[in-house]
Amino acid sequence: MKHLLKLLDMTGEEIIEVLNLADQLKYETKHGIEHHHLKGKCLGMIFEKSSTRTRVSFEVGINQLGGYAVVLGAEGSQIGRGEPVQDTARVLSRYVDGIMIRTFEQKEVEDLAKFGSVPVINGLTDFCHPCQVLADLMTVREFKGSLDGLKLCFIGDGNNMMNSLVVGGLKVGMTVSVACPEGYRPPQEILDFAGQYDCFELTDDPMQAAKGADVVITDVWTSMGQEEERQKREAAFAGYCVDEKLMAQAKPDAMVQHCLPAHRGEEITEEIFEAHAQYIFEEAENRLHAQKAVMVLTMGQAE
Ligand code: CP
Ligand code: NVA
Repeated sequence: MKHLLKLLDMTGEEIIEVLNLADQLKYETKHGIEHHHLKGKCLGMIFEKSSTRTRVSFEVGINQLGGYAVVLGAEGSQIGRGEPVQDTARVLSRYVDGIMIRTFEQKEVEDLAKFGSVPVINGLTDFCHPCQVLADLMTVREFKGSLDGLKLCFIGDGNNMMNSLVVGGLKVGMTVSVACPEGYRPPQEILDFAGQYDCFELTDDPMQAAKGADVVITDVWTSMGQEEERQKREAAFAGYCVDEKLMAQAKPDAMVQHCLPAHRGEEITEEIFEAHAQYIFEEAENRLHAQKAVMVLTMGQAE
């Protein structure tokens, strides 16, 4: 695996390979077995948006692998002053062994990979959140025993999370049903991909999407960078809350996931969030293990 730019670039087999390695690294971590696969290697991390989980799990992860991290924010670096990504890519490639980037435009991540010479890992763009969805799939498999044939349902915005869940879920053999209001559907590129699968459903009816689901997933209605649209979005997403009524449509043993941070009382009720906290916080932990697998499979194989 050269980079992790988006799940659209991966095959289902490659996704499963990441999950298998993530399971193994999780087991070793829990049993105090050291695994310095990236001894002495440096991960450069660029954050143009806020983060708690991604920031900490990548830094802890590279340390557990025997390497270390250098963190750059937009503010305080020349990135925030407009230095072109082509130049940042070529400079950082001479210092570090891999780059994790969280930014707005997907093109910036793709350009970093194109102009740089080290592996690039997407830590979230407006288009997708592949690291999160690898952790989500790992968590579903951990609790349900398998992925193939399960029904994954996403309620909410046709954003980075929905996009990656649609692609990742379908590639590993899940049935995927998403509910979003008109005007907030996933981009055409995602719909074109999903259109190849009979087991994909797009609806504006959350109850319909949740029917018979094994996994129900949601995310905030207003993502980072959309703050000025908050009011408009609250109105558009009224009725898209993951609550008891919606969960009654899903299978009785359905699990709920949320990438976090969550806005209780908006996309999910306090009651449903707390009832499924064991899954949601295992999902957060699995960011660490899944990303360690991604780093090993990209940076560990780079020349
Ligand atoms: N889920 C997630 O990516 O969390 P952070 O924004 O805290 O990194
Ligand atoms: N959709 C959210 C995910 C945060 C992890 C956002 O982009 O802000």
